Amino acid sequence: MDANHRRLMREGAGIMKALVTGGAGFIGSHVADSLIAMGYDVVILDDLSGGFIENVPSEACLVKGSVTDPVLVNKVFKDHSFDTVFHLAAYAAEGLSHFIRRYNYQTNLVGSCNLINAAVNAGTVKCFVFTSSIAVYGAGQTPMTETMTPKPEDPYGISKYAVELDLEAARHMFGLNYVIFRPHNVYGERQNIADPYRNVIGIFMRQALAGEPMTLFGDGNQTRAFTHIDDVAPAIAASALREDAYNRVFNIGADKPYSVNELADCVAQALGIECRKQYLPGRNEVLHAFSDHSRVRDHFGDCIRGVSLQDGLGRMAAWVRRAEKHSIQGFTGIEVWKNMPPKWALLAGKHDEKQV
Ligand code: UD1
Repeated sequence: MDANHRRLMREGAGIMKALVTGGAGFIGSHVADSLIAMGYDVVILDDLSGGFIENVPSEACLVKGSVTDPVLVNKVFKDHSFDTVFHLAAYAAEGLSHFIRRYNYQTNLVGSCNLINAAVNAGTVKCFVFTSSIAVYGAGQTPMTETMTPKPEDPYGISKYAVELDLEAARHMFGLNYVIFRPHNVYGERQNIADPYRNVIGIFMRQALAGEPMTLFGDGNQTRAFTHIDDVAPAIAASALREDAYNRVFNIGADKPYSVNELADCVAQALGIECRKQYLPGRNEVLHAFSDHSRVRDHFGDCIRGVSLQDGLGRMAAWVRRAEKHSIQGFTGIEVWKNMPPKWALLAGKHDEKQV
């Protein structure tokens, strides 16, 4: 509990009540855990499309449904008087978003607008915390810093940036405070490893445990700074109590980049399995992505532990071995097949590769 939190409690603000969207998901459930530990009363809104019921903390109240349903969203705000919204519900499959534009915008953009409308209308929300992504920066802008003008280049990044702009407009028009985080390549315990389109660490772990080779796009020399969940969730949870962070944007994540080749070796080591790699045609993507984290260190340095990749993978590997196994599901609502990576097309049910 930090000083500001203690002050709020002392001043009789009482129990703080938070809505966590996507709280059955990976990052959302960890944020919910941190909030509960801080004394928040937590309501989770999640449609269980990418998350799992076993991720929901027992102390939280779960409302099963989608942020894309404005009637439900309005009802949840009527039933509870929230002082904070932590919006983490999203379908965060950046590469796939080209092929599911409508679904992407409905879930990630229109769903967010439903929440912003409800937060403004409720009149009780002091801060709207939004999890954006470094996808907003697009290519060729490294290290990514918050002062750069975003230039997203895929529907996922565009939807995240649109919500950021909408939050700024809502602050200007209605005085709704926000805090925006732009995480990158987050991994760790409770990640959905059954989703074949996103989160390379989960994909590699699932493949290795199934005795399959790990699939690397291109030559595997592309780099990412993989970030353990414990270096992300506590800062997000703390943010609504730090007024100096209000109406600001924060990159958040690890500093040290690793190539996907190096990552595969580290994953195999963490699982104690021989590393087998299979190289696939390259994906149309940013080759090197890393961002500057000075601002988040200034405001949330106390929440960031700096978990090393080896340590984080060790923890995730231990969890993966005992976690409930969920079967892989190809995305069934593909809207555009053109230029889709053949492996994804097969997973999504397109069996004639000539048509892909
Ligand atoms: C992530 C972020 C995004 C950020 C981007 C930086 C998420 C959900 N997305 O996407 O916000 O903008 O980093 O560009 O955190 N790979 C393989 N084989 C696989 C799967 C992936 O080699 O089977 C590779 C990809 O080509 C990529 C890397 O692993 O280079 C990471 O992929 P992925 O986990 O899908 O995340 P990003 O696309 O990097």
